[in-house]
Amino acid sequence: MHVTICNDEEEDLSICNLFIFLHSQENYLLKLVGVLLTSLAGWYSGYLLCAFVSKTTITASIANLQDIGKKPVLRAPVPKRQKCDHWSPCSPGDYAYRILSGGGKGKLAKICFDDELLISKEKGNVGRGINIAIVDYKTGKVTSAEFFDMWEGDHSGEMMTFIKNAPEGSLLLMVTHDDGSTRLKNDAKKLVEELGSKEIWNMKFRSSWAFIAAKGFKLPDNIQKEKINHSDKKRNRYGGWPAEIQIEGCIPRSLI
Ligand SMILES: *[C@@H]1O[C@H](CO)[C@@H](O)[C@H](O)[C@H]1NC(C)=O
Repeated sequence: MHVTICNDEEEDLSICNLFIFLHSQENYLLKLVGVLLTSLAGWYSGYLLCAFVSKTTITASIANLQDIGKKPVLRAPVPKRQKCDHWSPCSPGDYAYRILSGGGKGKLAKICFDDELLISKEKGNVGRGINIAIVDYKTGKVTSAEFFDMWEGDHSGEMMTFIKNAPEGSLLLMVTHDDGSTRLKNDAKKLVEELGSKEIWNMKFRSSWAFIAAKGFKLPDNIQKEKINHSDKKRNRYGGWPAEIQIEGCIPRSLI
């Protein structure tokens, strides 16, 4: 507060009083302006802070929401599909093959050669017994594909004729679905053995068996040619059926 003292000696008391009044008013105005400025500054900084915080938190939480949607997306590149669904590709120009036996009742056998399904559920030409596809080695194209039921009827002789009719320079791809042994006769087994099979004599009821052979030329030693798995009640994957068996590999085109 001001300390102006109006004494009686003052010439004009009213002037003194006015001075006091103005002085106090001035003080009051200053205070008012001060208060106003302070609150204005407070309001404005509060506004700024609020605007900044809310903007960043909102954008941050939106980003989080978007992240939630994005998280399950795997960014690893999609692996390139190889011929006949191999894991690793064959050398360029080589033929790729994959022979898959049937598994239980539901999974049917498949023969793939050079990325074409020669025998499959999709083609509608797979059946119980022994499935055989014959391929012309020079062209890589299938010449015939059939299945021979070894459970019902007598098809062992037909199968022999089919194999014998394959010209020299053919590839023979064979695979079982369900039972391929019950009505398979010994002369047919002998014929398959002559093509290079070791397991044909071991075939039992519902054994899974896959085999590839060349007629009139020799396949490389280091490729998969034959596999077998036998039905065993204690170990079977599918009730009365063993696990499916598969062979796959690459065949160079310059063997003959
Ligand atoms: C044969 O099948 C059984 C089950 O059915 C499986 O455990 C075993 O690994 C298979 N063997 C081969 C050589 O695939």
